Amino acid sequence: MPSLTASASFAALQSHFASVKNRRLPDLFAQNPQRFAAMSLRAAGLLLDYSKNLLTTDSLRLLLDLARERGVEEQRAAMFAGVKINTTEHRAALHVALRAPRDAELLLDGQDVIAAVHAVQGQMRAFTERVRSGQWLGHTGKAITDIVNIGIGGSDLGPKLACQALQPFAQSDLQLHFVSNADGRDLDAVLRKCNPETALFIVASKSFTTQETMLNAHSARDWMLQQSCSEAALARHFVALSTNTAAVRAFGIDPGNMFPFWDWVGGRYSVWSAIGLSIALAVGFDHFAAFLQGAHAMDQHFCSAPLAANMPVLLALVGIWNRNFLGSSALAIAPYQQDLNLLPAFLQQLEMESNGKGVALDGATLETASSPLILGNAGTNGQHAYFQLLHQGSDVIPVDFIAALRPQHRLPDHHAALLANCFAQSEALMHGKSAAEVRAEMQAEGIDEERIPALVPHRVCPGNRPSNMILMDALTPETLGALLALYEHKVFVQGVIWGVNSFDQWGVELGKALARNIQSELLGTAQPLQHDSSTNNLIALAKAAL
Ligand code: F6P
Repeated sequence: MPSLTASASFAALQSHFASVKNRRLPDLFAQNPQRFAAMSLRAAGLLLDYSKNLLTTDSLRLLLDLARERGVEEQRAAMFAGVKINTTEHRAALHVALRAPRDAELLLDGQDVIAAVHAVQGQMRAFTERVRSGQWLGHTGKAITDIVNIGIGGSDLGPKLACQALQPFAQSDLQLHFVSNADGRDLDAVLRKCNPETALFIVASKSFTTQETMLNAHSARDWMLQQSCSEAALARHFVALSTNTAAVRAFGIDPGNMFPFWDWVGGRYSVWSAIGLSIALAVGFDHFAAFLQGAHAMDQHFCSAPLAANMPVLLALVGIWNRNFLGSSALAIAPYQQDLNLLPAFLQQLEMESNGKGVALDGATLETASSPLILGNAGTNGQHAYFQLLHQGSDVIPVDFIAALRPQHRLPDHHAALLANCFAQSEALMHGKSAAEVRAEMQAEGIDEERIPALVPHRVCPGNRPSNMILMDALTPETLGALLALYEHKVFVQGVIWGVNSFDQWGVELGKALARNIQSELLGTAQPLQHDSSTNNLIALAKAAL
């Protein structure tokens, strides 16, 4: 595949961009009263309104040409067929199989993938029901009250997000805790809340070798033993979610208490696998199944809708437009829903670990920018923190607003205020406030005429700042599943267009290896230190303090 910049449609987009970049979004709306209808669509319970982006129908046509020329349709078919598109690890990327119905068919290397997926789901359902009904007992015969998921990255962010987002569906007194950080304060704070007789630890790690997770898992195990749980009784308190049976056994967890998954499930795409056990425990397996169904509905839409009416494709193309033509280096994720507070953190891993690459599949250096920096937190809180920069900062940062039309609470007035803020922010970013408007406003406020000229530039908001709006009727297991699958496929489409492997993460390995060396230097006596003078001195300071 030639490089992105060598493709004919990329060149066409570059010259087309020159004719669009000085247009004003409010003018585009004024010229076409049907702009919302033309630039919004519904799929799998979600509505995407991308009309507040600085593009025209010509821009879209050219972006769709780019998607075709870059092979999005062929690569999509390859992913769903189980082709080993993760070429650097020689693996398929088959997370879509995790949410496929029982009657779907897919063979991978001779294995019936769908049967294997549903067998594990059966195991998860049975276990979940035993724990939630109080039949699974701790070592002193008491029912489980606290679930502690120990994992990091994809083995933490997705389950933690879903457990928080679906809390209104919990219908159980089980307390869910998530421990990820190597900082002992993370585990320590959770252990203080747990009773060793009624705590269940889920060690969630695809590799079962990740340093932070194994450190926390061993400390949790030691804590249980110190609290008078016998080695043999640990089986009542530890289960594993992993692809690595040997390491699970070596840790001391009976493989009978292991919920397996497979190397074709990437860590950041694993929330749909056994890694979702904590979600099933929190909300019940039926709700977890509904979460999978919501994602499957988005998969079906992604597979079957024409590119021009395909939500993940359009979201991806708008992102390409903003990143590679408008030059935006970041994307803000603003969920106007407290229960989606962890969505930006989840998307940071999904987007930046997948497409934060500077090398194309063929090893060539990319000639264009790839993943933007992902930032954000829940609205309205973000409005009182980083939104100032969105409105008046020197960089144009597009925003994805995400909201539910119906609340999951009964407090009056809150939801109207929340939605009003969400819609107002997207309107304000687009319209801005001109010098004339600022001047008139200050005159109306009675501000001294002499002071007005100096104040005007500070109050002007340039506007013309792009945003998407993603709406759902309510935040449910189905709509959450559809939302996460939407972003997964958006990331996939962008990866195909940029020509990168969205399913490996070699960049995170270097730091891990160096940390292993430094840890042994911190704990050992090896002299002299062979690093640069900064690192040597930092190690020496820490060594003296430890
Ligand atoms: O940070 C690298 C990474 O491999 C992620 O991709 C993954 O989600 C995380 O570490 C945790 O890995 P594991 O599930 O193997 O412990």
